[in-house]
This record gives sequence, C-alpha cells and structure tokens, in this order.
Amino acid sequence: MPQPAVLQVSHLQKVFFPGTLNERHVLKDVNLTIDPGDFIAVIGNNGAGKSTLLNTIAGTLPADAGHLTLAGHPVTKRSVAYRSHWLSRVFQDPKLGTAGELSVAQNLTLAASHTGSLSLRRYRRRGQTERYRKLLATLEMGLEDRLNVQVKYFSGGQRQALSLLMATLSQPDLLLLDEHTAALDPKTSREVMDLTQRIVTTHRLTTLMITHKLSDALRYGNRLLMVQDGQIKLDVRGAAKAALRQDQILQLFAE
Ligand SMILES: Nc1ncnc2c1ncn2[C@@H]1O[C@H](COP(=O)(O)OP(=O)(O)OP(=O)(O)O)[C@@H](O)[C@H]1O
Ligand SMILES: [Mg+2]
Repeated sequence: MPQPAVLQVSHLQKVFFPGTLNERHVLKDVNLTIDPGDFIAVIGNNGAGKSTLLNTIAGTLPADAGHLTLAGHPVTKRSVAYRSHWLSRVFQDPKLGTAGELSVAQNLTLAASHTGSLSLRRYRRRGQTERYRKLLATLEMGLEDRLNVQVKYFSGGQRQALSLLMATLSQPDLLLLDEHTAALDPKTSREVMDLTQRIVTTHRLTTLMITHKLSDALRYGNRLLMVQDGQIKLDVRGAAKAALRQDQILQLFAE
C-alpha cells in the first residue's frame, strides 16, 4: 500500500481582519502535498505568507477555509496539541525552543517526556545521563560535558542546536523550521544548517524549512517552494531543483 502523504493542504485560505479596512488576504487557495522524506526549502518576500502557512499547518492560526490532513488524519479544526502528535517546530528565536532557566538535562527530560517513546523510557531506567551525553555528542558542540548548566548561559547557536535535538527526539512525521538560522552569525548558521541536514538525513525526517538564504535553499533539500503574495509560485524538486540557479530565483523575485 502506498504511504499516505505526510501533509495535504487543500484550498487553504487565511484572511486577517476580515471585513475591515485592514483586511489582508494572506493565503489564497494554497494547495500542497508533502510526501514522506521531502526536505522542502520555502522562500519568498517579507510578508508573502510563509510563516502564516506554517502557523496554519501547526494550528497556532486557524484556517479560514480549506482542509489540512496530517499523516492521513484530518486536523483542520484540531488543536496545536493534537497536531503535535505528528509535528515539531523550531523557531527563529533560539530562546523559544529551550527553557533558559533549566539545565540541558532538564530540557532534554522535558522533551523526552513528550515523546512517550519506549526506547527513551528504557534509557531512563538504564542511565539517563549516558543517553543524554550520547545524544548531545551528536551535535558536535561540546554540550555533552555541560549537562547541568542552565541553557540561558549558552550561545544562540548552541541553543538552536539543542532546540533541533529536542524537536526531533520524538521522530516527528513533519518538522517545521521557520528561519531557524536567521539569528545566527554566518559560521554558526552554517554549522546549524549542516546539523539540520545530518538530523534530517539520519532520521529520514520530512521537513518544511523557511529561509531567506537563497544559497541554503539551493544547497539543502530535494524540493523548493516559492511563496509570493499568498500563493505558491514555484514548486520544483529533484533534478529540476538541482539545476536551478540563484539568478533564476532572483529573476522570479523581481517579477
Ligand atoms: N497574527 C496576525 N495577525 C494579523 N496579521 C498578520 C498575522 N500574522 C501575519 N500577518 C500579516 O500577514 C502577512 C504575511 O505575514 P507572514 O508572517 O506570513 O509573512 P512571511 O512570508 O513569513 O514574511 P517574513 O519573511 O517577513 O517572515 C503580513 O502582512 C503580516 O503582517
Ligand atoms: Mg515569516
């Protein structure tokens, strides 16, 4: 039997301040199917509707019309908590993905308690510390030696790496990344992108990643979406994506 789409969005509409002078039609009949294993980079101008699309997928914003199906489950009217069975998010602000007052170990325990995964429960019994050290070592940022340090003392890059680890502990069906490297310096941004790539590949995670960095949109993922004025203007994958050049995208932005 063919695997169901990870996400099916049909005829999605979002209007802010309807019926007022400030009415803004932000998503205009968006249709999108995300297949298992897709790693999609989403680009588009400021205000194009990229974050609104992610927010309506995650459920933090209700859809005004249309349907959303996550891993075969209709979720259009369902809560953020319900949808989090299948999806995880990492935001632009490194402070949002981790609790600063808690230690690294406490943050991981918090994330693990959401997964309910058998393997983690087993690990907890056998020796939580060793499990955490191993997980943190995969980040290659030396965090495995700082398990008891409060996260607020870490750099943005370290916090973002930890956010990624926490967001993917539960092996989500869909990982949503909204400019998760935008607040980082170029070197750290590259490190976090490479880490993202490693995690996505290792766990074969299906991923939707918004970025303003065209070079990242071209370098990472198998598929590229361009959102313009609330619609998907470009959707390329595989060889067509690999053949795409930065100047062609810039041309599309100019249109
Ligand atoms: N909760 C909200 N209430 C009212 N208007 C909103 C809300 N969220 C977004 N908007 C408006 O919707 C439009 C699209 O915003 P959105 O954040 O989706 O753009 P974006 O493509 O993510 O842009 P950026 O690249 O700047 O992050 C903008 O005009 C924005 O002001
Ligand atoms: Mg945005």
